[in-house]
Amino acid sequence: MAAYDYETHDYDVVVIGAGGSGLRATLGMAEQGLRTACVTKVFPTRSHTVAAQGGIAASLGNMGPDHWQWHMYDTVKGSDWLGDTDAMEYLARSAPAAVYELEHYGVPFSRTEEGKIYQRPFGGHTTEFGEGPPVQRTCAAADRTGHAILHTLYGQSLKNNAEFYIEYFAIDLIMSEDGVCQGVLAWKLDDGTMHVFNAKMTVLATGGYGRAYFSATSAHTCTGDGGGMVARAGLPLQDMEFVQFHPTGIYGSGCLITEGARGEGGYLTNSEGERFMERYAPTYKDLASRDVVSRCMTMEIREGRGVGPDKDHIHLHLNHLPPETLHERLPGISESARIFAGVDLTKEPIPVLPTVHYNMGGIPTNYWGEVLNADAENPERIAPGLMAVGEAGCASVHGANRLGSNSLIDLVVFGRAAAIRAGEVVDAAASPAEANKASIDKALDRFDHYRNADGGTPTADLRDEMQRTMQADAAVFRTDKTLAEGVEKMYAVADKMADLKVTDRSLVWNSDLMETLELTNLMPNALTTIVGAEARKESRGAHAHEDYPDRDDKTWRKHTLSWVGADNRVTLDYRPVHLDPLTKAKEGGIELKKIAPKARVY
Ligand code: FUM
Repeated sequence: MAAYDYETHDYDVVVIGAGGSGLRATLGMAEQGLRTACVTKVFPTRSHTVAAQGGIAASLGNMGPDHWQWHMYDTVKGSDWLGDTDAMEYLARSAPAAVYELEHYGVPFSRTEEGKIYQRPFGGHTTEFGEGPPVQRTCAAADRTGHAILHTLYGQSLKNNAEFYIEYFAIDLIMSEDGVCQGVLAWKLDDGTMHVFNAKMTVLATGGYGRAYFSATSAHTCTGDGGGMVARAGLPLQDMEFVQFHPTGIYGSGCLITEGARGEGGYLTNSEGERFMERYAPTYKDLASRDVVSRCMTMEIREGRGVGPDKDHIHLHLNHLPPETLHERLPGISESARIFAGVDLTKEPIPVLPTVHYNMGGIPTNYWGEVLNADAENPERIAPGLMAVGEAGCASVHGANRLGSNSLIDLVVFGRAAAIRAGEVVDAAASPAEANKASIDKALDRFDHYRNADGGTPTADLRDEMQRTMQADAAVFRTDKTLAEGVEKMYAVADKMADLKVTDRSLVWNSDLMETLELTNLMPNALTTIVGAEARKESRGAHAHEDYPDRDDKTWRKHTLSWVGADNRVTLDYRPVHLDPLTKAKEGGIELKKIAPKARVY
């Protein structure tokens, strides 16, 4: 057994991750007087939420008529009818209050002439239950909305006495013998010490796993650490096959150009200068839902109408927009286009390509953020002591495809919901149960194993192999052949984990070891993604299967559950989608027939 000393910290709640959802949960817990620790591997305001540009969806109606029921309908349709209806209602209903709350906390939103919060159009957000024109629903702080939210929530959390453990890397969950989560073991990166956070409630707010792919808008820190820890604890992941490609990553670097660019009037063209989205989505054109736009761009490229010497990307035009709009509403992407594409967007189009952006799947939860230890027979069984929020979780509010700007609202609505629920279930007066020593030792042994890994495969090489396999075989379009080959290749990649080589054995600022531990988290996320995709014989949302081009509600309107064994092999099961809203139409809710499945056209 590995011999490491560790310091124990007792808290009511430990939140792992300090992005938008982690900070909103931390703040909500601390406001209620729960002793709350936030453990984060990066400085809070460097979390990936800082990169969120275009805005946060809420039916404020500042720029024209809007209703939460329209927002809910768009979210249901956007999800391609895979989202859980209760969670989607909770999101859309709670969104306006959650945004006003952010405003009151101090988020510096852009303003209309009358001083109201400025809202812009975003893809898939419409009026009149998808029958009316696009709606301006996305509340923005220029094109730096995530940045504004993150700074505000961090300041508010400090003000409410939340305690931050910054640059601590979470190694594994501590689980009792009977399956209760008791906290987490973490490694302090700057001095190499080990820490047990012993808590009555553990909240995973660790973000997505975009870095399982070669080209992603996600930060290098987006390594699915929560999903990795959950998989190792023997709990399931859900709907992992649904990976969102954002239509406008900068060609080459993958850096995000916000959908707000099209919201402000930007448009896409092919090599013939054609605004091709008019052909595919006659009503909403460039503001169709993201999965639709990404597929259309890919089809244009495949059919030989891509731009550039290799005809392998698409042009995004903003050069027709007034310079003051670009300056006021899109200052960040003006800079990104210059730095990452060498383009002055007041004069030239930006070269763009669909780029991995978001994971709809994640750790299954109910709409209070409580993690589900679900299987087909126990679809709603709760894993005690454990919550997941934000991109790490799967409530499931985005189903098979997320609408742009529904992520930031998900972070704050469900971060807040988790805090409300914790306030109900955590007994602040009780002492935390003593953390299970066997579970701590197991986590330390795993850490020590990788610290001393002495095989022949450097971590960076294996990560590269995984990323290229996922990029090629779990792509925008998928086939039986690519997926079957991809599963075999990914299993072979995973088998090489046994041959990893870590060259640095130290404990202080050992980025070699940290990246290796991150790879152990990326791997179960990647495996469950490709195995879940191979099994799903239909097309739905972001899962575009060329051998099964239609959605099959009869067989496949269900959530995929996936487990990863110690041998890195994946087992699948399924659970039903929640079909009923929280509130009936006569109580102010939505009529079921309004959200019944139908063909998804924009
Ligand atoms: O395009 C964007 O600004 C991204 C927003 C989102 O993913 O919600």
